[in-house]
Amino acid sequence: MRATVASVDLHAVDLRAEGQPWEIWVSDLAPKERARADRFAFPEGRRRFIVGRATLRRLLADRLQILPAEISLIEGPQGKPALDPALSKHNELAPFIGFNLSHSGDMAVIAIGSGELGIDVESVHRSVDAMAIVRRFFSETERAGFEAMEPGVVRDRLFFRVWTRKEALVKAVGRGLSCPLSSFTVPLGDLSTEGEWLNCPEQPGRKWRLHEVGNALNLGPDWVSALVTTA
Ligand SMILES: CC(C)(COP(=O)(O)OP(=O)(O)OC[C@H]1O[C@@H](n2cnc3c(N)ncnc32)[C@H](O)[C@@H]1OP(=O)(O)O)[C@@H](O)C(=O)NCCC(=O)NCCS
Repeated sequence: MRATVASVDLHAVDLRAEGQPWEIWVSDLAPKERARADRFAFPEGRRRFIVGRATLRRLLADRLQILPAEISLIEGPQGKPALDPALSKHNELAPFIGFNLSHSGDMAVIAIGSGELGIDVESVHRSVDAMAIVRRFFSETERAGFEAMEPGVVRDRLFFRVWTRKEALVKAVGRGLSCPLSSFTVPLGDLSTEGEWLNCPEQPGRKWRLHEVGNALNLGPDWVSALVTTA
């Protein structure tokens, strides 16, 4: 399934890749990625990584009009993958491409657009102690919002929605969980179709925009997904 939100191309990918010779996809990976794939203790982790990374490479290659194996990726200080700036010497499209990937079980979502992007997907059936996470990691405003709700399925589902919003921001910024999740607040309510402004206190001069993308990607009721773009 694919969709476009805020000029960002979004792809939902079934990492089971049933009926597809996914092992052939290993040939699209860089040696370092193959080595990483080999380090997975369980075959399903290996398959999910290979299918996700190879699909990302194919989509980026499509955009840049080169072969997947020619895509060269680097990692930021906290591990955020980006196109190798060296690609820009030979490819005039490369400097404008931003992307991000997220996976949860056999579901992956990939965002490809411009500027810094962050995307997150979660299954709403994941077994976690939501309120313990809220109390320990969320901002005071978010915590108060959750404490005011009745315990139950509505609050549990909202937790995953809010979690993806927060993760999408820290992934857009590139900090991952090294950015304290309590240091910023995301809306708990429905977002407008144009998205909502967000601030990240660690980058006060910069504006970010938060979008809900699960519906656009037709993920169904079992999944939630959020995208953050550079405004
Ligand atoms: C980067 C981070 C935010 C990834 O979180 P995650 O939810 O485990 O993983 P996601 O599937 O959303 O994202 C992983 C992808 O993001 C990208 N990524 C890695 N580091 C990143 C960073 N610093 N910034 C942005 N993107 C990053 C990679 O493409 C990675 O894919 P890969 O593993 O195939 O290379 C990480 O800091 C983390 O450890 N999160 C913990 C998640 C957690 O505990 N969730 C509980 C939910 S209730």
